[in-house]
Amino acid sequence: LTTYTRRPLIVGNWKMHKTLAQTRELLQALRTQALPAAVDVVVCPPFTALAAASEELRGSRIALGAQTMHEEEQGAFTGEVSPIMLRELSVSHVILGHSERRRFCGETDESIARKVRAALAHDITPIVAVGETAEEHERGLAIELAVSRTRAAFTELTQKEVARCVVAYEPIWAIGTGLVDEPTETNVVMGAIRSCLPGLQNASILYGGSMKADNAAALVKQSNIDGGLIGGASLTAQAFLAVIEIL
Ligand code: PGA
Repeated sequence: LTTYTRRPLIVGNWKMHKTLAQTRELLQALRTQALPAAVDVVVCPPFTALAAASEELRGSRIALGAQTMHEEEQGAFTGEVSPIMLRELSVSHVILGHSERRRFCGETDESIARKVRAALAHDITPIVAVGETAEEHERGLAIELAVSRTRAAFTELTQKEVARCVVAYEPIWAIGTGLVDEPTETNVVMGAIRSCLPGLQNASILYGGSMKADNAAALVKQSNIDGGLIGGASLTAQAFLAVIEIL
């Protein structure tokens, strides 16, 4: 999967959902569908389901992602999972810096930057999530924060390395709430992300936050929106396929 040519990309973030049996059931439903050839599709199950997901997806064109990762290859890091362990399961993508991990698990711009470098070193495509809270949005800080968090995640990378990454702009107030901004407003923030570092012109930049079949068309029509990072609407085959078909 190459993501640096601005191909449409849809990523399902399952968060803390799906047992093994549920994982197999959902992936069997997805992999038997003919997916549009022009769209790249990635699913990110919880760690416990990655091995089963990897088996289910063998030979399919749906790629596998993880929801986070530690930057070291091994060591005394209780509870963590390394890039080597992910590669062993054919994981090709990893979400880094999701707002829930920044908020509940202490992830910082610095730790995210280390993870981005580790992911690239192991040939895993980082999907870096950035976005503002409702309060920051009201204070007019959306662009400034999206740009500073994007630059912080990609410090020390070459332009070529930046071009291998994916950015997901996820306004925190839009995640899981059903609230979505005007697509044209969202596009302005995402345009600022795209132009904030050399290399991002060619990278895939995704929108995330209550994206579903109802609103996806208006979003992906925008010049800077290459696809979506989908939470709730990735949990059933029907809802996820409905979004994929719109791209
Ligand atoms: P949502 O989640 O689609 O349920 O809003 C998106 C995300 O948090 O990645």
